[in-house]
Amino acid sequence: MRVTGAGGVDRSALPAGRAWWRGATGYEIYIRSFLDSDGDGVGDLAGITAKLDVLDRLGVDVLWITPFYPSPGKDQGYDVADYIGIDPAFGTLDDFDQLVQAATDRGMRIFVDIVPNHSSDQHPWFQQAIADVDSPYRDYYLFRPAAANGGPPNNWVSHFGGPAWTLDPAGSGEYYCHLFLSEQPDLNWANPAVMEEFREILTFWCERGVDGFRIDVAHGLTKDPEFRNNPQVREITLGMHPKDVFASFDHVHDLHRPETTKIFETWRTVVEPYDAVLLGEMDVRNIERFTEYVGGRGLDAGFVLKLASSRWEPATILSDLLTYERAALGGAAWAVSNHDQPRAVSRYGDGQVGVRRAAAVTTLMLALDGITFLYQGDELGLPDAVLTGVAMDPVSTRNGGVAGRDCARGPVPWDSTAVNGFTTAPVAWLETAPLPASLTAAAQIGEAGSTWERYRAMLDLRRRLPDLWSEPFEIFDRQATSLVIFRGPLTVIANLDDKAFEFVPEGEFHVEFESYAGAVGGDGGHLRIEPEATIVLSRREPDGRAIAESAEVTHGHR
Ligand code: NOJ
Repeated sequence: MRVTGAGGVDRSALPAGRAWWRGATGYEIYIRSFLDSDGDGVGDLAGITAKLDVLDRLGVDVLWITPFYPSPGKDQGYDVADYIGIDPAFGTLDDFDQLVQAATDRGMRIFVDIVPNHSSDQHPWFQQAIADVDSPYRDYYLFRPAAANGGPPNNWVSHFGGPAWTLDPAGSGEYYCHLFLSEQPDLNWANPAVMEEFREILTFWCERGVDGFRIDVAHGLTKDPEFRNNPQVREITLGMHPKDVFASFDHVHDLHRPETTKIFETWRTVVEPYDAVLLGEMDVRNIERFTEYVGGRGLDAGFVLKLASSRWEPATILSDLLTYERAALGGAAWAVSNHDQPRAVSRYGDGQVGVRRAAAVTTLMLALDGITFLYQGDELGLPDAVLTGVAMDPVSTRNGGVAGRDCARGPVPWDSTAVNGFTTAPVAWLETAPLPASLTAAAQIGEAGSTWERYRAMLDLRRRLPDLWSEPFEIFDRQATSLVIFRGPLTVIANLDDKAFEFVPEGEFHVEFESYAGAVGGDGGHLRIEPEATIVLSRREPDGRAIAESAEVTHGHR
């Protein structure tokens, strides 16, 4: 078992009971848009391998790679037609093995994205399920008789618009359930044969050297055995965005079933011999539910998705961070952005304001226990992409052009050549407006004062100062929009307010990091932390005691 992170943090030296991934820094690679190595306009595995040195230099410990399996691509790979293969658009199994080897050589780890809630309708299991109602594969999916009026069996709706039920195309008269597209039929996790299939799938990837799984829709696997209607909690109006229609129901019968955590307990027995991590994508907006998943013998951790969709509401952001920090007991995965939501820079206000705010929140996330992820392009300060070609996201294309997720999925701007150096093809799979030189990796890497260099220094904090995430988390001062935390000898001050914050530490201190240049000023021991900044200070008493034990500090907004 490898225990040393790329930055030299010897994870075997962690306090007893701590897992290697706590305190690690992750990086989400949306593979289609990372780097195209073969000129077909689509990012691929070899493109990732080609940039490992850059990611290593940035300070990344773990790469989460979005699905690369054979897929018709109706939901950009989240419709899997073969769970143990590689789609030719992304490369081959050899390319995958080379990536794992190259990552291992650098002390980096790979998480793959596993999609257990649904397969593609092109998966041989589903094809056999519709070809023959007596096939054992029929029960791999959720087929149900029509309601008395011939309509869908219940009122469940799809995340992507319309009912969560489609009539069996083979004419049996039954409907099948799909919480996403009709081309993404939901698997039946009440059938032990499905568990057996996934036992093999998980083992396959563990044997190939993966270090963990990001589990898609981890909260959705099991459904009410009686398929009862979900209670409707508000009126649905014409033209509502599908996500708002979805949120108009209390999903007690199609999501968050208690049986789901049992499934992950079984998964754990499969991955444990490999020391692989189970990281859930649970769209839970309530802390009790979140802890049901990460508090037992099931998942190691779960994404705190709320924070990857928040607008710039500092008081809410701080209170969410603290709520999850407290309750998740290290089982949280933090990120301000992902491929499903507008990018943090744009959500927070665009331009330099958005960049500054995203850096402040990300720095604070690095001072929390658990695993903190960047989404590709966060380190360049990317705003949302502007589409210049056709929309690709089914959320948009299947719903009359409503806002979709393409804005988060633009190609990474590597340089200022055509298509920002992402591909040698004339256009990328997703056509977006070229980005200015100042936002490219070529202009920022190694350039003092760039966002990339700021993020490199930010990520380096976790490696250089492991106290940042491993020492007891003590809240010294908590105001609506600011927070002062002690972590052993370190002090983290997050000032998300629009006014400066004053802080007078006692004795000598050293500024380890500021989330933007000039964020901390003042004279003598009197510190002034500028608006929308997070800083990290360190200080040790001569005998090594943390300042937290003896501090007398005055502080407040000015
Ligand atoms: C969550 C994934 O992040 C998203 O991109 C996908 O569309 C859905 N799950 C369905 O698989």
